[in-house]
Amino acid sequence: MNIVKTIKEVRENVKQWRKEGLSVGLVPTMGYLHEGHESLIKRAVAENDRVVVSVFVNPMQFGPTEDLASYPRDIDADSRLCEAAGASLIFHPEPEEMYEEGFCSFVDMTGLTNALCGLSRPVHFRGVCTVVNKLFNIVMPDKAYFGEKDAQQLAVVKRMVKDLNMDIEIVGCPIIREADGLAKSSRNTYLSPESRKQAVILSKSIFMAKQMVLDGERDAAKVKKAMVDMINTMPLADIDYVEIVDVNTMKNIDKIEGNILCAIAVNIGGEARLIDNFMLSLSNA
Ligand code: PAF
Repeated sequence: MNIVKTIKEVRENVKQWRKEGLSVGLVPTMGYLHEGHESLIKRAVAENDRVVVSVFVNPMQFGPTEDLASYPRDIDADSRLCEAAGASLIFHPEPEEMYEEGFCSFVDMTGLTNALCGLSRPVHFRGVCTVVNKLFNIVMPDKAYFGEKDAQQLAVVKRMVKDLNMDIEIVGCPIIREADGLAKSSRNTYLSPESRKQAVILSKSIFMAKQMVLDGERDAAKVKKAMVDMINTMPLADIDYVEIVDVNTMKNIDKIEGNILCAIAVNIGGEARLIDNFMLSLSNA
């Protein structure tokens, strides 16, 4: 498995595969890969002849006070994981390769991005849409794989592909969790031992809320209050948002029905902003 740093090299590889009639999957990542990424890569390997994993900490999706500089990086470990999972190629560009001097074109979305993480991270989705668009144009995959942990990102990318008539199938893959329930994230490495203990409250509140809904609760305010109360039992937890939205519009709902996303973002100990969610499709009966 090769690691390449230039767009030209990716294109040469993909061109050769296409000549051979092979299908191509793409797994876009920011590196520091864990079992969540591994599950995406394995799914892509199962469904495509060749798989490109991009490893690029995209500066454009970080706000000025966010963790771009400290975001964890380990390309050697990433390459071992990709190789073992069966990936064909890693694309690991420098920022200058992706954003050459004079770069001034962006993919901007409204609506879906004016909610949840888009409110607390105003530049985030413009950066995500722009870089994902570029990666799609560079790799031209048949299918691209995204984790359901970033549920809003998944919805945004699906919408972008639809709106801009991109001929790419977007595949969402389930959240992978630690033994105690905490969703796997590269940012979990920021947590001190005490914060790590308290971070389990994210998944606990998600599991509790999902059970409330499965047991028949349809009042979004009641479910959200129960979650907020539970999260607030942890002194190190500082809630960014707890919301229940329609997954197609990302608009808040009062009555829980249809395709819903219950999503939370919580700062733990001032060390990491973590997210978690569940999605459900409920009949309106
Ligand atoms: O989910 C991520 O890791 C990033 O947002 C993505 C999709 C790789 C774009 O930089």
